[in-house]
Amino acid sequence: MAQIIDGKAISTQIKEELKEKVAKMKEAGTEVCLAVIQVGNDPASSVYVNNKKKACEYIGINSLAYELPESTTEEELLALIQELNDRADVNGILVQLPVPKHIDEDKIIKAISPKKDVDGFHPQSVGALCIGQPGFVSCTPAGIIQLLKRSGIEIEGKECVVVGRSNIVGKPMSLLLLRENGTVTVAHSRTKDLKAICKRADILVVAIGKPRFITEEYIKEGAVVIDVGIHRNENNKLCGDVDFEAVEPHCSAITPVPGGVGPMTIAMLMNNCVESVEM
Ligand code: GUN
Repeated sequence: MAQIIDGKAISTQIKEELKEKVAKMKEAGTEVCLAVIQVGNDPASSVYVNNKKKACEYIGINSLAYELPESTTEEELLALIQELNDRADVNGILVQLPVPKHIDEDKIIKAISPKKDVDGFHPQSVGALCIGQPGFVSCTPAGIIQLLKRSGIEIEGKECVVVGRSNIVGKPMSLLLLRENGTVTVAHSRTKDLKAICKRADILVVAIGKPRFITEEYIKEGAVVIDVGIHRNENNKLCGDVDFEAVEPHCSAITPVPGGVGPMTIAMLMNNCVESVEM
């Protein structure tokens, strides 16, 4: 039987630690404040934004919510970001993605001050991660490192395979595993013989966005499998990029969907907000 990595429990543990830290900061006269901006009313984004606001409330972080209409212009959004960059009482700024098509996402990401970039999407944050300097780290990959560490899984010297090369997950994930002294391979849609490469992995991180794509044929006996995907299957049940039932008997540890990687993202966002005050 594989160890089921309980992301819900680990994220709760992190949130409790942060709650204590924030209370101590308050006693010392320091408040933490996150500004969350949503443009338009994409239902999935609204759910994410609401969860972020709830997590702030739970931990004791102040949150400013900006729900802007779909018709908001790029100039208006940039002006709001500038205003929040300049506000001393705002520590973190997050623009929920995707933004409407008439707004240039790259321009928005670059407009957020790297000092307040709690998503870790700014090129300066990504560059700092790349060369091992301090800066904000993208929340999902940072959460995966916490899942591994807090489950007692060593990364140093391990064969790590990351499937997927997105800017938000795959690329920063590979850099973080490298920082932890893993031997890292990044596989993607053009990779030849994906099965053979995945089968080398002691630690396999899957972020490809295809439901139950990874079956037992991709798994080395005893591997640790981290599933970043989240989908609804034919029966409207949540599932990941990994075929959990098929893969679980072959690994030493695996994250479930839901309750694995998902809850960690918000916990790490909260962590970044607290760090933004400490930095
Ligand atoms: N949209 C989907 N995931 C994320 C995230 O982590 N941050 C932001 N800002 N938008 C997202």
